Amino acid sequence: MAGLEGKVAVVTGSSSGIGQSIAIRLAGEGAAVVIDFRGHRDGAEETQQKIAASSGRSIIVQADVSRVVDTQNLIDQAWQQLGGCDILVNNAGIEKGSDFWDTPEADYDAVLAVNLKGPFFLTQAFVRKLRDAKKSGRVINISSVHEDMVFPHFATYCASKGGIRMLMRDLAVELGPLGITVNNVAPGAIATPINQAMMSDPAKLNPLLRNIPLGRLGTREEVAGLVAYLASEEAAYITGSTFVIDGGLMRNYHEQ
Ligand code: BGC
Repeated sequence: MAGLEGKVAVVTGSSSGIGQSIAIRLAGEGAAVVIDFRGHRDGAEETQQKIAASSGRSIIVQADVSRVVDTQNLIDQAWQQLGGCDILVNNAGIEKGSDFWDTPEADYDAVLAVNLKGPFFLTQAFVRKLRDAKKSGRVINISSVHEDMVFPHFATYCASKGGIRMLMRDLAVELGPLGITVNNVAPGAIATPINQAMMSDPAKLNPLLRNIPLGRLGTREEVAGLVAYLASEEAAYITGSTFVIDGGLMRNYHEQ
Protein backbone atom coordinates (compact mmCIF):
# COMPACT_ATOMS: atom_id res chain seq x y z
CA MET A 1 0.00 0.00 0.00
CA ALA A 2 1.25 3.45 -0.88
CA GLY A 3 2.08 5.65 2.09
CA LEU A 4 0.39 8.83 3.20
CA GLU A 5 3.53 10.89 3.79
CA GLY A 6 2.85 14.60 3.40
CA LYS A 7 -0.91 14.16 3.83
CA VAL A 8 -3.07 15.55 6.63
CA ALA A 9 -6.09 13.64 7.91
CA VAL A 10 -8.93 14.67 10.21
CA VAL A 11 -10.54 11.73 12.02
CA THR A 12 -13.65 12.57 14.04
CA GLY A 13 -14.37 10.62 17.18
CA SER A 14 -10.78 9.41 17.39
CA SER A 15 -10.60 9.31 21.18
CA SER A 16 -11.95 5.74 21.22
CA GLY A 17 -13.21 2.79 19.22
CA ILE A 18 -12.86 2.53 15.46
CA GLY A 19 -11.85 6.20 15.18
CA GLN A 20 -8.87 5.71 17.47
CA SER A 21 -7.63 2.78 15.38
CA ILE A 22 -8.10 4.75 12.16
CA ALA A 23 -6.10 7.70 13.52
CA ILE A 24 -3.27 5.39 14.60
CA ARG A 25 -3.25 3.54 11.28
CA LEU A 26 -3.27 6.69 9.10
CA ALA A 27 -0.45 8.14 11.20
CA GLY A 28 1.40 4.84 10.78
CA GLU A 29 1.10 5.34 7.01
CA GLY A 30 2.77 8.73 7.41
CA ALA A 31 -0.17 11.17 7.59
CA ALA A 32 -0.26 13.97 10.15
CA VAL A 33 -3.53 13.44 12.02
CA VAL A 34 -6.03 15.74 13.69
CA ILE A 35 -7.46 13.79 16.62
CA ASP A 36 -10.98 15.00 17.37
CA PHE A 37 -12.82 14.34 20.61
CA ARG A 38 -16.03 15.69 22.12
CA GLY A 39 -15.91 14.69 25.79
CA HIS A 40 -13.01 12.29 26.41
CA ARG A 41 -9.78 14.23 26.38
CA ASP A 42 -8.07 11.26 28.10
CA GLY A 43 -8.94 9.05 25.13
CA ALA A 44 -7.63 11.64 22.68
CA GLU A 45 -4.38 11.84 24.64
CA GLU A 46 -4.12 8.06 24.56
CA THR A 47 -4.52 8.14 20.76
CA GLN A 48 -1.82 10.80 20.55
CA GLN A 49 0.57 8.81 22.75
CA LYS A 50 0.11 5.72 20.61
CA ILE A 51 0.80 7.75 17.47
CA ALA A 52 3.87 9.34 19.04
CA ALA A 53 5.16 5.90 20.11
CA SER A 54 5.71 5.08 16.44
CA SER A 55 7.06 8.58 15.68
CA GLY A 56 3.80 9.78 14.12
CA ARG A 57 2.56 13.36 14.12
CA SER A 58 -0.79 14.53 15.49
CA ILE A 59 -2.65 17.39 17.13
CA ILE A 60 -5.74 17.22 19.35
CA VAL A 61 -8.76 19.46 18.69
CA GLN A 62 -11.98 19.35 20.68
CA ALA A 63 -15.07 19.55 18.49
CA ASP A 64 -18.69 18.54 18.82
CA VAL A 65 -19.40 17.70 15.19
CA SER A 66 -23.08 18.55 15.63
CA ARG A 67 -22.05 22.22 16.06
CA VAL A 68 -21.25 23.83 12.71
CA VAL A 69 -18.88 26.34 14.31
CA ASP A 70 -16.87 23.43 15.76
CA THR A 71 -16.63 21.67 12.40
CA GLN A 72 -15.23 24.83 10.80
CA ASN A 73 -12.70 25.13 13.60
CA LEU A 74 -11.61 21.52 13.13
CA ILE A 75 -10.72 22.17 9.49
CA ASP A 76 -9.21 25.59 10.26
CA GLN A 77 -6.92 24.03 12.87
CA ALA A 78 -5.75 21.41 10.38
CA TRP A 79 -4.81 24.14 7.89
CA GLN A 80 -3.28 26.47 10.48
CA GLN A 81 -1.30 23.90 12.47
CA LEU A 82 -0.56 21.23 9.86
CA GLY A 83 -0.68 23.18 6.60
CA GLY A 84 -3.76 21.65 4.98
CA CYS A 85 -6.26 18.83 5.10
CA ASP A 86 -6.33 16.13 2.42
CA ILE A 87 -8.33 13.32 4.06
CA LEU A 88 -11.52 13.60 6.09
CA VAL A 89 -12.78 10.56 7.99
CA ASN A 90 -16.31 11.17 9.29
CA ASN A 91 -16.24 8.54 12.01
CA ALA A 92 -17.93 10.03 15.09
CA GLY A 93 -21.23 8.30 15.70
CA ILE A 94 -23.75 7.43 18.40
CA GLU A 95 -26.69 5.06 18.65
CA LYS A 96 -29.67 4.98 20.98
CA GLY A 97 -32.08 2.07 21.17
CA SER A 98 -35.79 2.28 21.95
CA ASP A 99 -39.12 1.07 20.66
CA PHE A 100 -40.11 3.34 17.81
CA TRP A 101 -43.31 4.47 19.57
CA ASP A 102 -41.33 5.54 22.65
CA THR A 103 -38.42 7.28 20.94
CA PRO A 104 -37.96 10.73 22.46
CA GLU A 105 -37.41 13.79 20.29
CA ALA A 106 -34.13 14.40 22.12
CA ASP A 107 -32.77 11.01 20.99
CA TYR A 108 -33.78 11.68 17.39
CA ASP A 109 -32.07 15.09 17.49
CA ALA A 110 -28.90 13.74 19.12
CA VAL A 111 -28.43 10.80 16.75
CA LEU A 112 -29.20 12.72 13.56
CA ALA A 113 -27.02 15.64 14.70
CA VAL A 114 -23.89 13.56 15.30
CA ASN A 115 -24.31 10.94 12.58
CA LEU A 116 -25.65 13.05 9.69
CA LYS A 117 -25.60 16.80 10.30
CA GLY A 118 -22.01 16.53 11.55
CA PRO A 119 -20.60 14.84 8.43
CA PHE A 120 -22.67 17.18 6.22
CA PHE A 121 -21.22 20.42 7.56
CA LEU A 122 -17.76 19.10 8.33
CA THR A 123 -17.48 17.91 4.73
CA GLN A 124 -18.72 21.32 3.60
CA ALA A 125 -15.93 23.06 5.55
CA PHE A 126 -13.38 20.53 4.21
CA VAL A 127 -14.51 21.04 0.61
CA ARG A 128 -14.58 24.84 0.73
CA LYS A 129 -10.90 24.98 1.71
CA LEU A 130 -9.89 22.47 -0.96
CA ARG A 131 -11.92 24.27 -3.62
CA ASP A 132 -10.26 27.59 -2.77
CA ALA A 133 -6.80 25.99 -2.76
CA LYS A 134 -7.59 23.99 -5.94
CA LYS A 135 -6.54 20.75 -4.25
CA SER A 136 -7.99 17.25 -4.39
CA GLY A 137 -9.13 15.28 -1.37
CA ARG A 138 -10.73 12.16 0.12
CA VAL A 139 -13.87 11.87 2.19
CA ILE A 140 -14.44 8.54 3.94
CA ASN A 141 -17.59 8.15 6.03
CA ILE A 142 -17.80 5.40 8.63
CA SER A 143 -21.35 4.32 7.99
CA SER A 144 -22.74 0.91 8.99
CA VAL A 145 -24.36 -2.16 7.52
CA HIS A 146 -27.45 -0.32 8.75
CA GLU A 147 -27.17 2.17 5.90
CA ASP A 148 -28.87 -0.65 4.03
CA MET A 149 -30.04 -3.29 6.53
CA VAL A 150 -32.84 -2.96 9.07
CA PHE A 151 -32.09 -2.68 12.81
CA PRO A 152 -35.42 -2.78 14.66
CA HIS A 153 -35.54 -0.54 17.75
CA PHE A 154 -32.77 1.63 16.29
CA ALA A 155 -34.85 3.65 13.82
CA THR A 156 -32.98 6.89 14.47
CA TYR A 157 -29.64 5.15 13.82
CA CYS A 158 -30.95 3.59 10.59
CA ALA A 159 -32.36 6.92 9.43
CA SER A 160 -28.98 8.58 10.00
CA LYS A 161 -27.02 5.82 8.25
CA GLY A 162 -29.44 5.63 5.33
CA GLY A 163 -29.02 9.40 5.06
CA ILE A 164 -25.25 9.16 4.92
CA ARG A 165 -25.46 6.57 2.18
CA MET A 166 -27.31 9.02 -0.07
CA LEU A 167 -25.16 11.96 1.05
CA MET A 168 -22.09 9.98 -0.03
CA ARG A 169 -23.59 9.11 -3.42
CA ASP A 170 -24.73 12.66 -4.04
CA LEU A 171 -21.41 14.24 -3.06
CA ALA A 172 -19.41 11.74 -5.12
CA VAL A 173 -21.12 13.20 -8.20
CA GLU A 174 -21.07 16.84 -7.11
CA LEU A 175 -17.46 16.81 -5.89
CA GLY A 176 -15.95 14.55 -8.57
CA PRO A 177 -15.12 17.52 -10.83
CA LEU A 178 -13.15 19.02 -7.91
CA GLY A 179 -11.05 15.86 -7.64
CA ILE A 180 -12.60 14.94 -4.31
CA THR A 181 -13.65 11.31 -3.83
CA VAL A 182 -16.37 10.27 -1.38
CA ASN A 183 -16.91 6.72 -0.13
CA ASN A 184 -18.48 4.89 2.80
CA VAL A 185 -17.07 2.11 4.93
CA ALA A 186 -19.93 0.08 6.39
CA PRO A 187 -18.84 -2.03 9.36
CA GLY A 188 -20.98 -4.78 10.82
CA ALA A 189 -20.51 -5.84 14.42
CA ILE A 190 -17.09 -4.62 15.53
CA ALA A 191 -15.78 -4.91 19.09
CA THR A 192 -15.95 -1.27 20.23
CA PRO A 193 -17.42 0.80 23.09
CA ILE A 194 -20.64 1.46 21.08
CA ASN A 195 -21.35 -2.28 21.44
CA GLN A 196 -20.30 -2.71 25.07
CA ALA A 197 -23.76 -3.51 26.42
CA MET A 198 -24.38 -6.10 23.71
CA MET A 199 -20.94 -7.69 24.01
CA SER A 200 -21.28 -8.24 27.75
CA ASP A 201 -24.72 -9.90 27.46
CA PRO A 202 -24.45 -13.46 26.07
CA ALA A 203 -28.20 -13.47 25.40
CA LYS A 204 -27.62 -10.69 22.85
CA LEU A 205 -24.11 -11.57 21.68
CA ASN A 206 -24.66 -15.26 20.84
CA PRO A 207 -27.60 -14.79 18.44
CA LEU A 208 -25.62 -12.04 16.70
CA LEU A 209 -22.56 -14.31 16.33
CA ARG A 210 -24.79 -17.00 14.82
CA ASN A 211 -25.75 -14.46 12.14
CA ILE A 212 -22.12 -13.80 11.19
CA PRO A 213 -20.76 -16.39 8.73
CA LEU A 214 -17.19 -15.79 9.90
CA GLY A 215 -18.38 -16.47 13.47
CA ARG A 216 -16.79 -13.55 15.28
CA LEU A 217 -16.93 -9.80 15.77
CA GLY A 218 -14.64 -7.71 13.60
CA THR A 219 -11.73 -5.75 14.98
CA ARG A 220 -11.14 -2.01 14.91
CA GLU A 221 -7.83 -2.62 13.15
CA GLU A 222 -9.56 -4.47 10.31
CA VAL A 223 -11.80 -1.45 9.70
CA ALA A 224 -8.80 0.89 9.93
CA GLY A 225 -6.99 -1.14 7.26
CA LEU A 226 -9.85 -0.61 4.80
CA VAL A 227 -9.89 3.12 5.54
CA ALA A 228 -6.12 3.30 4.98
CA TYR A 229 -6.60 1.68 1.58
CA LEU A 230 -9.35 4.13 0.60
CA ALA A 231 -7.13 7.03 1.70
CA SER A 232 -4.17 5.75 -0.34
CA GLU A 233 -3.11 6.57 -3.89
CA GLU A 234 -4.17 3.09 -4.94
CA ALA A 235 -7.81 4.03 -4.36
CA ALA A 236 -7.66 7.19 -6.49
CA TYR A 237 -10.31 6.01 -8.97
CA ILE A 238 -12.86 4.87 -6.36
CA THR A 239 -15.76 7.17 -5.56
CA GLY A 240 -19.47 6.84 -4.81
CA SER A 241 -19.23 3.37 -3.26
CA THR A 242 -19.90 1.67 0.05
CA PHE A 243 -17.41 -0.94 1.25
CA VAL A 244 -19.04 -3.42 3.62
CA ILE A 245 -16.82 -5.06 6.27
CA ASP A 246 -19.05 -7.37 8.27
CA GLY A 247 -17.87 -11.01 8.18
CA GLY A 248 -20.76 -11.78 5.83
CA LEU A 249 -23.51 -10.54 8.18
CA MET A 250 -25.45 -8.66 5.51
CA ARG A 251 -25.57 -11.56 3.10
CA ASN A 252 -26.59 -14.18 5.64
CA TYR A 253 -29.77 -16.17 5.42
CA HIS A 254 -30.67 -19.37 7.25
CA GLU A 255 -33.55 -21.77 7.10
CA GLN A 256 -33.50 -23.63 10.40
C1 BGC B 1 -24.05 -1.02 15.35
C2 BGC B 1 -23.96 -2.17 16.32
C3 BGC B 1 -24.56 -3.43 15.69
C4 BGC B 1 -23.90 -3.69 14.36
C5 BGC B 1 -24.46 -4.93 13.65
C6 BGC B 1 -23.43 -1.41 14.04
O1 BGC B 1 -23.57 -0.35 13.14
O2 BGC B 1 -23.35 0.09 15.88
O3 BGC B 1 -24.69 -1.85 17.49
O4 BGC B 1 -24.34 -4.54 16.54
O5 BGC B 1 -24.07 -2.56 13.53
O6 BGC B 1 -25.84 -4.96 13.67
